[in-house]
Amino acid sequence: MRVAVLVSGQGSNLQALIDGVHGREAQIVAVASDRPDAPALERARAAGIPAASFPLSEHADRTARDLAVAAWLDAHRAELVVLAGYMALLTPAFLAHFADRVVNVHPSLLPSFPGLRAIEQALEHGVKVTGVTVHLVDEGVDTGAILLQRAIQVPEGSDAEGLHAALQPLEHELLPEAVRLFASGRVRRDPRDPRRVQVSGGTPGRGS
Ligand code: GRF
Repeated sequence: MRVAVLVSGQGSNLQALIDGVHGREAQIVAVASDRPDAPALERARAAGIPAASFPLSEHADRTARDLAVAAWLDAHRAELVVLAGYMALLTPAFLAHFADRVVNVHPSLLPSFPGLRAIEQALEHGVKVTGVTVHLVDEGVDTGAILLQRAIQVPEGSDAEGLHAALQPLEHELLPEAVRLFASGRVRRDPRDPRRVQVSGGTPGRGS
């Protein structure tokens, strides 16, 4: 499966995809960013993957920017779009173009704590358990159908930095796993409830 990855930051999730699935179950064919200075772009180039940035300032508006991104991904014949720390909201035109083909990783157990500062929100609420969610992207903020989740206990006295460090290994497991599920054709909408997705053969467990 030909996969595009959208990034805004350090790119540790992109690196997990490069190390975990690239050249195996999937081919990462393009990496795009809203930020020209995103270190993730360098990780892509170091792996020989085409990388480009699409800052909003170079386009008329968000829709025009997203259509430029979509055209570039089409030119690389991307079949699946993975948001790996992509901090811009995608417009309806982009999502319609890649319907049911956009996935995101989010550092909370959705539907708790969507949006920005998810880890801080969880700490402020005082939850004892939190985790990571990989979900399909719809027009809402972190509201799309859930594909994979994994939970951890929140260590007593955690701060945001420590909890983020504890959650990142889960992200780095779950996002490649989600790509493998798509690549093997095991993800489909639940025919009885299109809001949900089913994983045929069951959801993989830790270490599978
Ligand atoms: C991840 O923790 C992700 O959950 C959040 O942004 C971070 C991106 O990290 N939305 P990286 O750029 O993949 O290192």
